Amino acid sequence: DTIKVNISNAFGSITESTVSAMLPEASEALAKVDNGSGAGNDFLGWVKLPSETTADLVDDIIATAERLRKECEYVVCVGIGGSYLGAKAVIEALSDSFAAYRCDNGATKVVFAGQNIGEDYMHELLQLLDGKRFGIVVISKSGTTTEPAIAFRLLKEKLEQQAGKQKAAELTVAITDAKRGALRQLATEEGYKTFVIADNVGGRFSVLTPVGLLPIAVAGYDIRALLNGAAEMEAATTAASLDNQSLLYAATRNALYRAGKKTEILANFNPKLHYFGEWWKQLYGESEGKDGKGIFPAAVDLTTDLHSMGQWIQEGERTIFETVISVAASDHELRVPADSDNLDGLNYIAGKRIDEVNKMAELGTRIAHVDGGVPNIQITLPALQEKWLGQLIYFFEKACGISGYLLGVNPFNQPGVEAYKRNMFALLEKPGYENETAAIRAKM
Ligand code: PA5
Repeated sequence: DTIKVNISNAFGSITESTVSAMLPEASEALAKVDNGSGAGNDFLGWVKLPSETTADLVDDIIATAERLRKECEYVVCVGIGGSYLGAKAVIEALSDSFAAYRCDNGATKVVFAGQNIGEDYMHELLQLLDGKRFGIVVISKSGTTTEPAIAFRLLKEKLEQQAGKQKAAELTVAITDAKRGALRQLATEEGYKTFVIADNVGGRFSVLTPVGLLPIAVAGYDIRALLNGAAEMEAATTAASLDNQSLLYAATRNALYRAGKKTEILANFNPKLHYFGEWWKQLYGESEGKDGKGIFPAAVDLTTDLHSMGQWIQEGERTIFETVISVAASDHELRVPADSDNLDGLNYIAGKRIDEVNKMAELGTRIAHVDGGVPNIQITLPALQEKWLGQLIYFFEKACGISGYLLGVNPFNQPGVEAYKRNMFALLEKPGYENETAAIRAKM
């Protein structure tokens, strides 16, 4: 049993035969991912990650998570981009929506830092941690990224002040490159527990490494089930056929792109999937947006955004297509109450489950958007549980590799993200950037 892709509503500007005609090209792209014969092939470590992750590593991650959970009220996960979004997406998808506001449960709370340079954000986080027992999971593959480095410097100082240097070191875990980078050096000198991010796994493909697995385990979720789900999808996405769901999705979105649909909107009808959309945007945005090409990845939370972006999607420029993540079953049952006064006029749905109303909103929206000229791809997963999220993660990763090769780019590099860093370093007068500082000042 795996998650399913339905493209029957994607036709209009393309037809079923347009997608079928993509099969030879998509099979070639799949072979590049599976055999490592394409550009960026030194970053394909994620392909076999679910099946090749050892039980020893998983046990070590779980034991480390348990230790932090026992000792800490809060664990701050420090990281940005691929060193943040996967864990955030999975934790949000599995968490009680109001967990952060509950005063009554003693469970360790996972909070995030280093994903921005917000002064108020950091100030408020340090206030929250004041006098609290907390630990730090600091994540950076390069070990030199500015945003998490600043956050970690502040948090390290706070933890050392509160717990003492030795205890602070025991409560800090670093996830980074095996040898390179400032974080590796710092971790060695301070004696932190560390996990390695393999050279051949890029940041945005690293959620199924300790980068994602440790924060998810600290939040109390079942990383074995997550990996098992991903392994099922790994096995299910090797066939050069349109039954391969990752290949089908990759082929369809590229057929739509070639037919002028330049923006893909990932839509969910479950607020817990908001950060899944953020993770997906990073995965596809950084992998495909280069060489003057690439589908623009956007995301909406529905029905919320039907009251903001809905108008644009229904009647704006017809250069978009929509991919809806449908969750078949919700976890809890809640029905619309009957009301003898019926002043709000809602008795026509009295007794119906909230999820049934939501499903009708989803169906009605899909039909309206398709009628409005927005091709629709539907991805269905049975429930928001670790196994299905593991499948969904691997499904999107595999499709992303195939899709990048179909587009004709190297999906595994991100040269464009250096531009802002160069300017920021020049403006901050980082040593070694003297020429850039002079050049940027001349422009201002
Ligand atoms: O996908 C990527 O490679 C990036 O988004 C990185 O994950 C991000 O820039 C953070 O890098 P690092 O883990 O080196 O701090």
